[in-house]
Order: sequence, then structure tokens, then C-alpha cells
Amino acid sequence: MNELCRLFGGIIRSKKTFIVSQERKNWQSKLGFILAASGSAIGLGNIVFFSSNAYQYGGGAFYLPYFLALFVLGLPIMMMEFGLGTLTRQSFPLALRKLVGKKGEFFGWFSIAGSFIITMYYVAILGWACGMLLGTFGSLFEPGITAPFTPFETPTESVSSTVFFFNMIAGWQPLILIFIIWALNVLILRKGTHSIERAVRVFVPLMWIFMIGLAIRGLTLDGGFDGVMFLFTPDFQGIAEPNVWRGAFSQMFFSLSLGMGIMTAYASYLPKNADQVNNSLLVSFLNCSFEFIAGTAIFSLLFVFALNPAGTSLSLSFFVIPQGIAGLSTLPWVVRLFGFIFFLLIVMAGLTSSVSLMEAFVSAIIDKLKLKRNKALIYVAIVGLIGSALFSLPQIIDAGLSGNGTLGLTLLDLMDHWVFNYSLLIVGLAEVILIGWVLGADRLREALNEHTKLRLGKWFVGLIKYVIPVLLTVVIVSSLISEYRPNGPDGGLLYGSNYEMPGWEWLPVFIPIFWLVVSITFSYLLTNRSNK
Ligand code: ALA
Repeated sequence: MNELCRLFGGIIRSKKTFIVSQERKNWQSKLGFILAASGSAIGLGNIVFFSSNAYQYGGGAFYLPYFLALFVLGLPIMMMEFGLGTLTRQSFPLALRKLVGKKGEFFGWFSIAGSFIITMYYVAILGWACGMLLGTFGSLFEPGITAPFTPFETPTESVSSTVFFFNMIAGWQPLILIFIIWALNVLILRKGTHSIERAVRVFVPLMWIFMIGLAIRGLTLDGGFDGVMFLFTPDFQGIAEPNVWRGAFSQMFFSLSLGMGIMTAYASYLPKNADQVNNSLLVSFLNCSFEFIAGTAIFSLLFVFALNPAGTSLSLSFFVIPQGIAGLSTLPWVVRLFGFIFFLLIVMAGLTSSVSLMEAFVSAIIDKLKLKRNKALIYVAIVGLIGSALFSLPQIIDAGLSGNGTLGLTLLDLMDHWVFNYSLLIVGLAEVILIGWVLGADRLREALNEHTKLRLGKWFVGLIKYVIPVLLTVVIVSSLISEYRPNGPDGGLLYGSNYEMPGWEWLPVFIPIFWLVVSITFSYLLTNRSNK
């Protein structure tokens, strides 16, 4: 105990440039923090990506890696990221710098770069979800509309959410919508914890009510239960495939908001004696419960209407599920109501996550560059808005709509593939090595045990120092190898090589290089910038 006080006290005193701000505002209550942290965790990852990943990786085959990822990786890393926040009262890059030096800060910024790229396309997806939400009052559930480019040149005779979607993204409406989403993020973050707490107290309970309502509706449909059986029946075929493990591990990181600097930023607004073991258990439990309820709602609907969720995660939410909702009732207003609830749910869940993604970046540059909060928010929002526009409006990067107008989607898919799958895992690996070996996992364990009744045993040290680094290394390396394996699950060679994009064939090669060059340069510059 004394050694710990000396360690952390000493670190804080000896680094004058990282003086803990006395003005750092705390959450007003533990409930406020839990709502905010679980609101961050529950997002598109739970509704849009979980079901699609679970299906893509074989339904039941997903569970062994999923639960292993939860108990062996997710929970310990969440305890670690929460712990970094309360021990240092700093955002992620500077918390790592305090505890493990410059190398730590570099990986902190690397994680911020990755999470900012994710925020850009996350907001683009939210903009589209808002467009679909507005469509529930308009023509989303009406037949007879035409999309502006092939393959939808003739008016459809039935309801087609795909046609509606492509009509929407061919216009300028998404630009207005992503502007509104970024503005809402700024508004919710403008007073830090106080304004975040006000928003999550409304949004998070509503999200639960809506999702439970949708799951009950799905389960009470004739045949709805079969979908749930498909989702939950264990099946061990495919378990040897590295991509299944990578899919489950990255899904867990993303879903629990790990490896993105979020949980450390949120925990830095807690008092030093917060019980982070308890908080981690609570937030993970809420997140995974929501994920399973969402899976239940979505899979029951898919099975009842014999819908095929194959394709990208986005096609599930934007094309397939609305198709199922359209079949829910012969009464148009009931269909519209369910469509409205589904997309409102996505927007609310996405908003409480996007504010946390933005807070990870904003709090880090406030700590490092000593910017005023409002200034930091505006700078981040302007750059973010430009990025989201590139993702959400294909005509900005492809005026001739050469890829059937899907270039924005392809760009998003490629970026998502690399950043979602690799950035979070790389940061997780760097964190456990640095905290486990440079700071000492035992020191972290003792610090966490100071304020909890559920004391962590020596197993925690074993996980952080040995098990997690080995698991992550194996999964990252084997997935990278499988990216380049001819006839691999992603079509062989480079991911995306099976895209048909005349004139844009270089894009799949360019994207991972672009992500790495930008992230490494950004991290290098900020790490080496003096913050006196
Ligand atoms: N954890 C957030 C989500 O699942 C980022 O969407």
C-alpha cells in the first residue's frame, strides 16, 4: 500500500508537466458514470455488428471465442483501462506516459488515431440511420421507388429498403444529417461529465426499453424462436479458422469500447477510490446482456421472414432488417412505428457511443495541448465532419458514381476492416505488454485491490503478463497471414481484392497503408510535442 502511494504519488509529483488538473470535474454520481460507460459500450457494435459477425462467423461457432474474449481479454483489459484513469486522472495517452513513459504515450495516441477514424465512419453510419429514421415518415416502407443508378433502374414493385437507401445516399441529405450528429456530439460534450450525464440519463434507459420491446415482438412471432435457437446453439465447426477468433476478439474490444482510450478518459473523472473491479463487471454485464437481447430481436425477425443476413454488417441493418419490419403487419402505421423504433434505437445507442469516442480524443488534446474544451470540441468536430462526409457521400470521392455509387460504402468497409480488426487488438497488445512488464501487473493488481471487495488474485497478473499477450499475438499474426492467403475467406490476397471497382483497384492496398502512415505520424508528433 505504501509502496503504491509512493509509486503513483511520486509519478504525479515528479512529472511537473503532467500536473493533475485540480479542475477535472467528477461524475455527479456512480449511476451517472455507469450509464455513461455502458452507454459508450452499447452502440452500433451491439446492434449492427454483433448479429452480423455472429452470423458471418457461423452462429454457434462464435461463442467459444466470444466468451473467452469476454472473460480472458475483455474484463481484465477493462479493469486495466478503468484503473489507468483513476490512478492518473488523465486521458489515455498521458495516463500511459505517467505510468510507463514515452512508449506508452505513443500507443495512447495510436489508439486515439484509430478511434478517431472509427468515429468518422461511425457518425457516417449514424447519419444514414437518421435518414432511414426520417424515411419511416416518408417512402421507406412504400413500394414503387427507383434508385438513381444500376442495378435498380426500374421502379420496384415491392418495398425495398435497399432502393430507398441508395436513393438517400445519392443525394445531399446525409451531409446535413452528419452535420447534425457532429453538432449533437459537441452539444452533449460541451460541459464535460455534466452534460454527458444529462444525455445518458435519458438515452440509456430508453434504449433498453425499446430493445426489450423489439425482442419481445420478435419472440412472439410464429417461428421467431427458431432464429434464437440458431443464434444460441453452440457449434464447433469453424473454430479452427483464425478469422473467427479475430472476429470475436475485435468484436469484444469494440463492443466494450476498449483499445480506443474511451474507458480511461471516462474513469479519469471518477474519484481515486472508485471500485474498478465492480465497475468493469457491471459495465461488461450490461453490454453483453444488451448484445444478446439485440441478437434475439434481430435473429427472430430474420428467421420469421426467411431473410438472409449475408453481406456486410451494414446491409443487415439497412437492407435486411427493414425488409423484415415491412412484413411485421399489414397495417402501415404499425410497420412505420417499428421502423421508427428500430432506427431511433440505433441513433440513440450510436450517439451515446460517438460522444465517448469523441471524448477520448478531446480529453486527450485538452490534457496535452491545454486547449479550452470548446475550442478542442470545435476543431475535432470540423475534421471529423470532413472525414464523415467522405464516407457517407459517394459522389464526393466518385463524382461519376463509377462503383454503382457504392464507393463510400467500400471505403468504409475497407477502413472498418483494418482499423476495427487490427488497431484495437494492436493497442490491447501494447497496453498489456507495457502495463504487465514495464509498470508491473502486480502493482496494478494491488492498486485495483485497494478499493474493491472482489479482490483480484494472482491469476490477474498471469492474464496480463502472459495469456493475453500470447493470445493477441497469435490472433493478429495468423489473421494477417490469412489476409494474404490465396482463396482465403476474404477472397484471397489483400482484403477487398474481390471488389469490382474499375479505376479504383488500388484502394484496398492504399487503405491499410494510409491508416498506418497517418496514425504513426500523428502519434509520433504528439508524443514528441512538449506540453509545457
Ligand atoms: N462500444 C461502442 C459500440 O459498440 C463503440 O458501438
